[in-house]
Amino acid sequence: MALTPDELLTTTRAVRKRLDFSRPVSRSLIEECLAIAQQAPTASNLQNWHFLVVTDPVSRMALAELYRKSFEIYRARREAARATTPAADPGRAATQTRVTSSAQYLAEHLQEAPVLVIPCIAGRTDAEPVSRQAAQWGTIVPAVWSFMLAARARGLGTVLTTLHLAYEREAAKILGIPYGEIMQACLVPVAHTKGTEFKPAPREPLATMVHWDAW
Ligand SMILES: Cc1cc2nc3c(=O)[nH]c(=O)nc-3n(C[C@H](O)[C@H](O)[C@H](O)COP(=O)(O)O)c2cc1C
Repeated sequence: MALTPDELLTTTRAVRKRLDFSRPVSRSLIEECLAIAQQAPTASNLQNWHFLVVTDPVSRMALAELYRKSFEIYRARREAARATTPAADPGRAATQTRVTSSAQYLAEHLQEAPVLVIPCIAGRTDAEPVSRQAAQWGTIVPAVWSFMLAARARGLGTVLTTLHLAYEREAAKILGIPYGEIMQACLVPVAHTKGTEFKPAPREPLATMVHWDAW
């Protein structure tokens, strides 16, 4: 796809309803995206990422079931929070309603994504200080985002998800991941997209989150 760097960076959306579950994704396309992800920075240049690429339908269904269990808890919590404090801004409330419907759709259909990528990192941070956590998460997240950008540049859609991590141990068992040494960072469904046109999303004004020289 002919996208400028800025177009790529501003139109790589969380794709859920526009994932085309009917089209297979080739192994070579996934490998191209992962090779690009490998160019991302890592703390101490350790390059201690791992990417578990799940295509087996039985494993995809088992992961989707874990995801749904976590999604139900998340959804109930969100609904309770919204009932007590409804969004003040109607624009934001409408966006939230759209995201909720999209997230519900993904939860119902996750197993249909032809590829689920689970980026992992060697070395757990459970109960580690923030500085160590920052190095670990900061090592895997840039690679994940590079993977998602490379996918978008090739007509693939992705969405970074973390809900299955509530059941990380169970997911590790399904996939044979050595839980004690390897930490799963997220789960990224991958599929060709229905259409390739995506737009920049609304964001809060920059001034509300930028601080020059001091807070
Ligand atoms: C750390 C992180 C965790 C996320 N977890 C989930 C998730 O579990 N399920 C989901 O459907 N989307 C998840 N998302 C996607 C966000 O909902 C999405 O990025 C956000 O709504 C903004 O949409 P956009 O990326 O298209 O701008 C996650 C995103 C991030 C960065």
